Amino acid sequence: MRVSELPTPALVIDAEALEHNLATMAERLPGDRLRPHVKAHKCTALAREQARHGHTGFTCATPREVLGMVAAGLGHDLLLANETVDAQRLRAMARAVDTGGGAVRITIAVDSAETVAAAAEAGIHEVLVDVDIGLPRCGCAPTDAGRIAELARNAGMEVRGVMGYEGHLMMVADGDGKQAKVDAAVDLLLQAHDAVGGSVVSSGGTGTHHLHPRVTEVQAGSYALMDTAYATLGFPFRNALSLLGTVVNVHPSWFVADVGLKALGMDHGNSAVPGATVWYHSDEHVTCAPEAGGRLADVRVGDRITVVPAHVDPTVAYHEQAYLVTGDQVLETWPIDLRGW
Ligand SMILES: Cc1ncc(COP(=O)(O)O)c(C=O)c1O
Repeated sequence: MRVSELPTPALVIDAEALEHNLATMAERLPGDRLRPHVKAHKCTALAREQARHGHTGFTCATPREVLGMVAAGLGHDLLLANETVDAQRLRAMARAVDTGGGAVRITIAVDSAETVAAAAEAGIHEVLVDVDIGLPRCGCAPTDAGRIAELARNAGMEVRGVMGYEGHLMMVADGDGKQAKVDAAVDLLLQAHDAVGGSVVSSGGTGTHHLHPRVTEVQAGSYALMDTAYATLGFPFRNALSLLGTVVNVHPSWFVADVGLKALGMDHGNSAVPGATVWYHSDEHVTCAPEAGGRLADVRVGDRITVVPAHVDPTVAYHEQAYLVTGDQVLETWPIDLRGW
């Protein structure tokens, strides 16, 4: 199939840009130094490419991602870097380990007596203590991490170490003292690690992947596909993800294409349309003004346009499949098979 024949809006991955991003990151954080986060792409075919680049452990945000990775044969060492007290889903993950014949390893984040108890009751074998290192979200206080670890060990579970996600620092520019801010967050994580023990210290994301010499592994995910928000930080990763849209209306001052906010994660703002200025998105449409002298200056109904998302993770989660392309050629159709919870 040709890209120009795809039904729109279509999620499109540029094969060369993807390969560049995976190879670049594998050079910066080889093998187990990176535990790629699958929440950014929710796609086992893409995870397989990351494994081909040497990363065998993966980070997940939902039990669905964990179980989908196991079903795809990528369950060698999975970390659910998120809290859950859902007994049914915890039991399903425990069962996946017990029936996996030694080929499946699942570690669950815990940060409270309740999450420890839920994991233990469900038969989970291994946990990490999730520590609050500055992002107001999950994680226990660094000073409480030792107690949480002891609760888990007393309940019969193996404690593999600690994790902490400094999400509030991802978009800080390098020039604004970013390394010092990340170091302060890692100080808290290492303080917790002293009390917890174990061999794993897991942290970071795409925005801080280059600033983490003191942790054992980095949980970056967005680097594989990238978005316009992360592009502002100047990393050597290329934009590999876009939406293909079709122009459905042309007015003397603007044009409209079929890539609305139901096809795009909007929490980081409007998408970008090369050759045009995006005015706004509505449910099913994007309204743009062509840039004078730009590629879209004489756009017509039926033309195809490229829409670059501002936030990759929620954008991918809206779609059932992505098309891996080179030029006008569709190489493969990849199911976004890790959607849902
Ligand atoms: C726990 C956790 N780790 C790591 C990441 C890193 O993701 P990214 O590479 O997209 O910044 C995230 C993203 O939200 C996260 O929630």
